[in-house]
Amino acid sequence: MKVLFIGDVVGSIGREAVDKYLPLLKNKYKPQVTIVNGENAAAGRGITEKIYKQFLQAGADVITMGNHTWDNREIFDFIDDAKKLVRPANFPEDTTPGQGMVYVNVNQLKLAVINLQGRTFMPDLNDPFRKADELIKEASKQTPFIFIDFHAETTSEKQAMGWYVDGRVSAMVGTHTHVQTNDARILPQGTAYLTDAGMTGPYDAVLGMEKEKVLQRFLTNLPTRFEVSKQGRSILSGCCLELDSRSGRAVSIKPILINDDHPFYG
Ligand SMILES: [Fe+2]
Repeated sequence: MKVLFIGDVVGSIGREAVDKYLPLLKNKYKPQVTIVNGENAAAGRGITEKIYKQFLQAGADVITMGNHTWDNREIFDFIDDAKKLVRPANFPEDTTPGQGMVYVNVNQLKLAVINLQGRTFMPDLNDPFRKADELIKEASKQTPFIFIDFHAETTSEKQAMGWYVDGRVSAMVGTHTHVQTNDARILPQGTAYLTDAGMTGPYDAVLGMEKEKVLQRFLTNLPTRFEVSKQGRSILSGCCLELDSRSGRAVSIKPILINDDHPFYG
């Protein structure tokens, strides 16, 4: 089974990059499942129903989220009907709409997609490690193909999670920090791992935000409102995974990076 993952799509430039490159990436890598992190898709903050549907139309099978899940209030109106959207599973069980895990059917096979959020330098949600145990146990009854998008701030928490789930899931890919890390690997027990897939959005910006506004903050220490950069070049970041069709273990993980410094080759 081949799985394509696209990291944090930021604003309109990110969405345009998905529209432009997703068909090309599908043609090149031939994934059966495409997962897109969309938590920054609506002007950097959350997602709307329209954008959610656009992603599905563009060829995504599952949309994962993160700490910005609730930033666009519209989500409360559609999340319970958005069967292909996963928000971090370690939000409080009884009070949180939506779901933390979805299954995608791939011919006779099934891929479970789990979204978790870290807690270091982030809101104090439920323990993502214990939640991972619970969901892996549940998913394993149905399938050996399990993908985790771990949306977390620190490299250490992501690496720790990678080791924690090694051998129990097919892949753990990190999101949230918006810069792709150069550490794609297959851990000893067969789990593909990448600390952060990187972002898909404005390239001439600071993590997708207008660089002038961010610089102003650093130079003055005065409050400035960050805006998503709406013009300029784009970057697309992600990875492609190949999973053994019997065991669900990772066979390969290839990082994907497309920008003017790393042009796309079909
Ligand atoms: Fe995030």
